[in-house]
Amino acid sequence: MPAHLIDGKAIAASIRERLKFDVDSFRLATNRTPKLTAVLVGNDPSSQVYVRNKEQACAKAGIASDIHRLAGSTTQAELLALIAGLNADPCVHGILVQLPLPKHIHETTVLDAINPLKDVDCFHPENVGLLTQGRPRFLPCTPHGVQVLLRESGVAVDGAHVVVLGRSEIVGKPISLMLVQKGETANATVTICHSRTKRLPEITRSADILIAAIGKPEFVTAEMVKPGAIVIDVGINRVDDRLIGDVAFGPVSAIASAITPVPGGVGPMTIAMLLENTLAAAKLQSVAPALLVNR
Ligand code: GUN
Repeated sequence: MPAHLIDGKAIAASIRERLKFDVDSFRLATNRTPKLTAVLVGNDPSSQVYVRNKEQACAKAGIASDIHRLAGSTTQAELLALIAGLNADPCVHGILVQLPLPKHIHETTVLDAINPLKDVDCFHPENVGLLTQGRPRFLPCTPHGVQVLLRESGVAVDGAHVVVLGRSEIVGKPISLMLVQKGETANATVTICHSRTKRLPEITRSADILIAAIGKPEFVTAEMVKPGAIVIDVGINRVDDRLIGDVAFGPVSAIASAITPVPGGVGPMTIAMLLENTLAAAKLQSVAPALLVNR
C-alpha cells in the first residue's frame, strides 16, 4: 500500500487560520500589530523567493512586515549597524536575517547581534541554550514544523527510534534535541547521522521515523528505509528549476507508511512557525519591554 501523504500545506493553512485569529486578539488587547523585519543581503534567487513568501504569509496573517534588501557588497559593519537599529526599534518584534550571507560576512557574528527577544529564527546562543535545557523561549521554525507535522499526523514519537540525517544548526541538531526531550511529540531515541557516519543504510533502516535534512537531492533510497517507516523530507534542492527533496519520493513512498512531499511538506510549516514566533515575540515584548534594554 502506498504511503499516506503528510499534507504540510493543509496543516500549515489551518495553523495560519488560527494564528490570524490570535493576531487579531493581540491587536485588540494591546493596540499593537506584530511586525517581522527580514534582512536579505545579495541576490541569491532562492533566498529572494523565501523572503517574498514570508512577506506574503505575514500579510495574510495580519502581521506587519518589511524587507531590507541590501547589496551583496554590504559590509559586515553596515549590516551590524542595521541590526542595532532594528533591535532598538520598538515597532519591530521579530528580526530574520536570511541565510546564507555573502562569504565576506561572518554569519555567527551577525546572528549573535540580534536581540534574543527578537530572534524569531531561534539561532541566538541564548535561545539555543534555553532550548537545550528544555525551557525554550522560541522554537526553531523548521524543527518545530516537523514536530507539528508528526503530532498532527498522529505519529507515535514516544519511544520511537528517530534517525536524523544531517547535523546542521538550522535543522539536524535542533530537531534531534527537541525529539529526545521529555514532552509531547518527543521522548524519542534519536540517532544523528552525517557525512562521516559509517554503515549509514544499516542505521537508517532501523529508523521508525527518518528525518532527511542533508541537502542532497534524492539521497535517501528505498533500500535505506524500513518498510512501514515514517519519512520526513526537509530537503529543498533546486535541480533544473525543479524542487527536489532529499528523499527519492517514488520508490520510498512505495514502502513507507507515511511521507512528506516536496514541495508541500515541511516548507509551508516553516513559514507557519515563523509567524507563530513573531506573535510570540510581540507578546513577550509587550509584557516585558524592559528586557529589551541594554541587550
Ligand atoms: N535560510 C534557509 N533556511 C533559513 C531559515 O530557517 N532562516 C533563515 N534566516 N535563513 C534560512
